[in-house]
Amino acid sequence: MDPLNNPFSPGAGNQPPELAGRGELLRQVEILLARVKAGRAEQSLLMVGLRGVGKTVLLNRVREMAEARGYQAVLIEAHENKPLPLLLIPALRQTLFALDRMASVSQKVKRGLRVLRSFIGNVKFKLGEAEFGLDIEPEKGTADSGDLETDLAELFVAVAEAAADRASAVAIIVDELQYLSETEMSALIMAIHRVAQRGLPLVLIGAGLPQLVGLAGQSKSYAERLFTFPEIGPLSAEDSARALQEPAASQGVSYTPEALAEVYRVTQGYPYFLQEWGYQSWNLAPQPPIDLQVIRQTTQRSMQRLDQGFFRVRFDRLTPREKVYLRALAELGPGPQRSGDVAEQLGVKVQSIAPLRSSLIRKGMIYSPAHGDTAFTVPLFDEFMRRTMPEAPGPRAGKKP
Ligand SMILES: Nc1ncnc2c1ncn2[C@@H]1O[C@H](COP(=O)(O)OP(=O)(O)OP(=O)(O)O)[C@@H](O)[C@H]1O
Ligand SMILES: [Mg+2]
Repeated sequence: MDPLNNPFSPGAGNQPPELAGRGELLRQVEILLARVKAGRAEQSLLMVGLRGVGKTVLLNRVREMAEARGYQAVLIEAHENKPLPLLLIPALRQTLFALDRMASVSQKVKRGLRVLRSFIGNVKFKLGEAEFGLDIEPEKGTADSGDLETDLAELFVAVAEAAADRASAVAIIVDELQYLSETEMSALIMAIHRVAQRGLPLVLIGAGLPQLVGLAGQSKSYAERLFTFPEIGPLSAEDSARALQEPAASQGVSYTPEALAEVYRVTQGYPYFLQEWGYQSWNLAPQPPIDLQVIRQTTQRSMQRLDQGFFRVRFDRLTPREKVYLRALAELGPGPQRSGDVAEQLGVKVQSIAPLRSSLIRKGMIYSPAHGDTAFTVPLFDEFMRRTMPEAPGPRAGKKP
């Protein structure tokens, strides 16, 4: 069929033609935004899910919802190697400028800018970073102690007070939260805690891989009271079908029930894969309806594309030892595996591979669903590892018999 009309959109962060199965969560977000804007304390939302389940897409939607409610919303993405302040400063500067432009002079907004200026002064001093350009006198003694926990809390309070003064609210939306350091996470939690205690209209909504929950818990014991961690999982069979059918129907095309069942079976309802299968099946089908035979062809082509793209880019970021570790994990099958079993598979002691495991968790390749367990953060990655490294590592690997 004509690729020009193909409604599907595989790709990180691409808005899907049909955002299936997330209605309940979005209703929760609506309520949260309304309550925070009204000055009512509410738990922040930190969405947790594996790669490609649709976290970024949800955060984009959250930003739109917040803006529609009169929020100043900023969306930032945490990085492995970029300190949190460097991400927050431009975002909050933009927020304060927008608040500043809203009406006549507000002392609270001016103060917010001065507090940001003193926060920047300290960061710049410490990191030797480029000028952030804020031509204003700093608010001496506020947000400039050099202790991120104290300073970020003071900055958030000042920004939230500025928003309150404008009868507005601030949404700080952070993607890839698992990449924050423990200190940064701790400071973020403390800052949100302060803002919530004062009933100020600033909310944090974030998303990350499952290691995020542990990171928050380690950083501050009261994190559980401040945050809820809704799980963003694969879609049900029904929602998976909807994710394909609705966009196709908008172009007058349908899927046979057998085709839909087969897509669900091979993709397990993971949104990224659903878009990929939708996209390829559309291009492969000679005419509607899209049937089982087309899906079988699609599976071949899509798997190949994933192996060269979605899976491959992650594989290429691994060191040779990390690859061997993951290959051993894959050998044990999908789902969580005991660390002891991985070590045994490799023929080494558990302690000797503990650092390797930690670095893979930091890289976001694996996570620990329960103490001592290890699982992939990328759906179907175990199958990919077995395809791409056919030979399983083991006590005898590399040694000739
Ligand atoms: N609810 C949904 N229904 C249908 N397709 C979806 C849905 N959510 C996301 N998608 C599609 O899935 C793909 C992945 O989405 P997204 O990039 O938001 O995932 P992610 O969880 O942020 O992944 P990563 O952890 O790799 O950043 C995109 O192509 C998007 O269009
Ligand atoms: Mg994402």
